[in-house]
Amino acid sequence: MPSERTPLLVRVPVAEPRPRYPHAVLRRFCTVALASTLIWFFIAVAVSMTFFPDGHSHHDPSDRWTWPGCGRRPVSYDQLRQILLDTPSSERAEAWSRYYTAGPHLAGKNYSQALWTRNKWAEFGIHADIVSYDVYINYPADHRLALLERREYEDGTSTSWKVSFEASLTEDILADDPTSGLPDRVPTFHGYSASGNVTGPVVYVNYGTYQDFEDLVKANVTLKDKIAIARYGGIFRGLKVKRAQELGMLGVILYSDPGDDGDITEEKGKKAYPDGPARQPSSVQRGSTQFLSFAPGDPTTPGYPSKPDAPRQPVHTAIPSIPSIPISYTDALPILKALNGHGPKAADLNRYWTRNTGLQYKGVHYNVGPTPDDVVVNLYNQQDYVTTPLWNVIGVINGTIPDEVIIVGNHRDAWVAGGAGDPNSGSAVLNEVVRSFGQALRLGWKPLRTIVFASWDGEEYGLVGSTEWVEEYLPWLDDANVAYINTDVSARGTTLRVSAAPLLDNIIHAVTASVPSPNQTVPGQTVHDLWDKRIKTMGSGSDFTAFQDFAGIPSLDIGFESGPHDPVYHYHSNYDSFYWMEKFGDPGFAYHRTMAQIIGLATAQLADLPVISFRAADYAQALDRYVKQVEDKLDEVLSPAREIDISSLSNDDVYFELRGSTRNSSSSSSSAAASAGSPSAESFGLSLKRLHKAVGKLNKRAVGLDKRADELDRRLRQHLPWWRWSTKLRLGFQIRQVNTKYKRLERSFLFDEGLDGRPWFKHVVFAPGLWTGYAGAVFPGLVESIDNQDWANAERWVDIIESRIRNAAHRL
Ligand SMILES: *[C@@H]1O[C@H](CO)[C@@H](O)[C@H](O)[C@H]1NC(C)=O
Ligand SMILES: *[C@@H]1O[C@H](CO)[C@@H](O)[C@H](O)[C@H]1NC(C)=O
Ligand SMILES: *[C@@H]1O[C@H](CO)[C@@H](O)[C@H](O)[C@H]1NC(C)=O
Ligand SMILES: *[C@@H]1O[C@H](CO)[C@@H](O)[C@H](O)[C@H]1NC(C)=O
Ligand SMILES: *[C@@H]1O[C@H](CO)[C@@H](O)[C@H](O)[C@H]1NC(C)=O
Ligand SMILES: *[C@@H]1O[C@H](CO)[C@@H](O)[C@H](O)[C@H]1NC(C)=O
Ligand SMILES: [Zn+2]
Repeated sequence: MPSERTPLLVRVPVAEPRPRYPHAVLRRFCTVALASTLIWFFIAVAVSMTFFPDGHSHHDPSDRWTWPGCGRRPVSYDQLRQILLDTPSSERAEAWSRYYTAGPHLAGKNYSQALWTRNKWAEFGIHADIVSYDVYINYPADHRLALLERREYEDGTSTSWKVSFEASLTEDILADDPTSGLPDRVPTFHGYSASGNVTGPVVYVNYGTYQDFEDLVKANVTLKDKIAIARYGGIFRGLKVKRAQELGMLGVILYSDPGDDGDITEEKGKKAYPDGPARQPSSVQRGSTQFLSFAPGDPTTPGYPSKPDAPRQPVHTAIPSIPSIPISYTDALPILKALNGHGPKAADLNRYWTRNTGLQYKGVHYNVGPTPDDVVVNLYNQQDYVTTPLWNVIGVINGTIPDEVIIVGNHRDAWVAGGAGDPNSGSAVLNEVVRSFGQALRLGWKPLRTIVFASWDGEEYGLVGSTEWVEEYLPWLDDANVAYINTDVSARGTTLRVSAAPLLDNIIHAVTASVPSPNQTVPGQTVHDLWDKRIKTMGSGSDFTAFQDFAGIPSLDIGFESGPHDPVYHYHSNYDSFYWMEKFGDPGFAYHRTMAQIIGLATAQLADLPVISFRAADYAQALDRYVKQVEDKLDEVLSPAREIDISSLSNDDVYFELRGSTRNSSSSSSSAAASAGSPSAESFGLSLKRLHKAVGKLNKRAVGLDKRADELDRRLRQHLPWWRWSTKLRLGFQIRQVNTKYKRLERSFLFDEGLDGRPWFKHVVFAPGLWTGYAGAVFPGLVESIDNQDWANAERWVDIIESRIRNAAHRL
C-alpha cells in the first residue's frame, strides 16, 4: 500500500515571531477582540433586522420576517417554497438535456458549454463566472486488443503467431439512437490510464477486488506477467488496476458482464437496447482509473490548486503505471472462452466467484486461467497526456449574512457525447434550480445566506474541477460553508438514492415529504412515501468528496437511480444518450422536474431559515452506531470460523465491503484466534468503550444545542413590538451563536495529518473505503487497523477520534 506516497504540500501557516513585549500582545489582543466584537455586532444587527418578526401570528417559523422599515419580506419563506415547487418544468429540463447531449464534452474539451451555462444562468438572473484550472489529464490516441495463438510449423523448427480475434473496441452505431453515430463521438478508453504495449497470457480475476486477488494468490494462480480480465462492478475501477499492478501484472482488461444486470437480461427474455431495456451487447463503460480512494483531483497537485504556475508532483503513486482498456461483453466473449479449460474454474475457488456469472449461456465456463503461453493477448493503449485548462461555472446569489454559504453543484463533463444520465440529468436539474431561484429574485427575494451554484468540469477523471476549487478556496469555505448539495446523476430511473452527512438527515426527510412523486399510482404519494429511507454514508465517486472528506463540510448527494426493475443504464457508454433517456430512463422528464424541486427546497431550507435546520443529535447518534459497527467488525475478526451469512451477499454494499477489505482470512481464523487473548486486541476492544463514552457526552450537548435551536426558533415566531428592539437584537445574537456551532460541528472531525497512507483525506469519520472507492467507510482509521490486525495503530486511532469527539462536544 502506498506508504511511499509523496507527502502533501501542507498549507502550514508561517508562525510569526513571538512578540517580546507583553503590552504589544495585549494591544494586539485588544485590536482583535474589538474588531471581532464589532464584526459580530454588525452581523447580529443585520441578522436580527432581517428576521424582524412582524405582528401577526403564524405557523411557519420564518414566514414573516420583515425588513426594518419595509414591512414584510417581499417573498416569504412559504412563497419561496411555492416558487421552487412551481417553477421547474419537464419541458425545460428536456431542452437542457437535449443541449448538453448534442456533442462531446470531455473534461477541458468544450469551452462553449461552459460559456453557454454561464450565459443561461445570467439570463435566469444569477451572476456567474468561469473559474479555470490547468490540469494534467489524458486524451485517447490509439488502442488495440487482440487474441494471439502460436502455431508450430509441420517441421517443428519454427513457429508463428496468428491473430485469432481482434477486438472492435467500439460501440455499435444504432439507427434509432443518433448520438451513437456522431462523427466526433468519444473513443473507448480509461481516464488516467498508462500508455503501454503488453502481451501475455490472461487470468480471469472476477471483480478484481482485493479479496479476489487474494484468492488467486492462495490458489497458486500465477499473476506476474499476466494480463488480467476483470468484470466491472462493485468497487472503483482504478483500484482493480492498482491491485493488479501491485501483483506484477502487465495490464488490465475491464468488461461489463450482463450477469450483473439482474433480471433485465437477454437471457431472461428481455430485448437489448434499442429494442428493449436490456444491455446493448456492444456497450462499453469508459471511466477513470485514478487511485481515487488515495486522493482525488489533479494528481500533480495533491492538496493545492492547479493554478498555471503551481509546482507539480510526480504522479506514479496516484495513477496506474500499467495499461488498461475497457471493453464490451461482445469483445470479452472470445477472450473468456479462450480461458475455458485452463486453470481452476471460478466455481472451484469459493462461493464469491460464482456470483452473477451470466455469460455461461454464451459458452463461457469462467475458468480462471492463466491461458497457456501459446494463447496470449496483446493489449496496446496509447494516451496523450497534456496539461490543459478546464472550466468550472460558479454562480452566486449574495445573502444577507456574509459568512454563511450553501453550495449546490453538479458536474458538466461526460465521457461521451451524450451523458444524458451522467451527468447531464444533473446539469438539466441544476439549470432548473437556478432558474427557480432567479424567479424568486425577480419577485424581490433575497436569501439570508449566500448561495453558490457550481457546474463542475473534470469530475469524471477524478473529481478534478471541484477538488481544485475546494483546495483554492479552502480558507473561505472553512469559515463560511454551511453545507454542500451534490447531484451527479439526477435521474436515470425511479429509485431515490441518498448519501449524506448525518447533520442533514432531517432536512432530507422534510424535503422529500413535501415533494409529490412522479408516480401517482396512489394519488398524493410523495417522494418520501416511495423512498426506502436509507441514507448511505459518504464515500466518494462524485464532487462532494473534497467538501466532505477534505474540508469537513456536511454534504448531500442525491438522485433517482435505476432500481432492479428499471431498464439497464448504460453507464459511461454512448448509449447514455438523449434517446435512451427519452425512451427508457425518464420518459417525459418527470423525475428531472421532481429532483429540481427537491434540490430547490433543500437549498431553501438551508439558506433561508434563520436557525440552520441541522440536528446535532442525529450526528451523535450516528457516531454511536458507527462505533458499534466497529465493535461488530472486531468481534467478527476475533471469532474464528464465524460463517458469513450467505443471504447478505446479495446486497451489493455488504458484498463489496467484505471483498474490498484487506483482511487476511487465513490468519483471521488461525492466528487471530490466538491473538484474541493477546492484550492488545483486548485493550483495543476495551478502548472502544471510551469512544462510546465520548459520544455519550457529545450526544448530551448535541441534544442541548438542538433544544436551544428549537427554543430560539419558537421565540422568533412570537410577536415582538418594535420597541423591544434590544430583545430582538439579543435574539439575533443568540441565533448567530447557535448557527456558528452548527456550522463548525462537522469541521471538528478533521485530522490535519490525514488518514494512514492517504493524507489528503482529513475526515476521521467518513472516507471512501481504501479498496472499494465508492462506498463509504466509517472510522476508516479503525477499520483499516482491524483489517491489518495492527492493534497499536487501532489504539492510536481511538485516541485521535476520541479527541475529535471531545473537542466537538466542547465546542457545542
Ligand atoms: C460542445 O457542446 C455542444 C453542445 O452539446 C455541441 O453542440 C458541440 O459540438 C460541442 N463542441 C465540441 C468542440 O465538441
Ligand atoms: C506492440 O509490441 C509488439 C512486439 O511486442 C509489436 O510487434 C507491435 O507492433 C507493437 N504494437 C504497436 C501498436 O506498437
Ligand atoms: C500452492 O503451493 C503450495 C506450495 O507450492 C502448496 O503447499 C499448496 O498446497 C498449493 N495450494 C494449492 C491450492 O494448490
Ligand atoms: C457578492 O458580494 C461580493 C462581496 O461583497 C461582491 O464582490 C460580489 O460582487 C457580489 N456578487 C453579486 C452577484 O452581487
Ligand atoms: C409506484 O407506486 C406504487 C404504489 O406506491 C408502487 O407499488 C410502485 O412500485 C411504484 N412504481 C414505481 C416505478 O416506483
Ligand atoms: C496471511 O496470513 C498468513 C498466515 O498468517 C501469512 O502467511 C500470509 O503471508 C498473510 N498474507 C498476507 C498477504 O498478508
Ligand atoms: Zn458523473
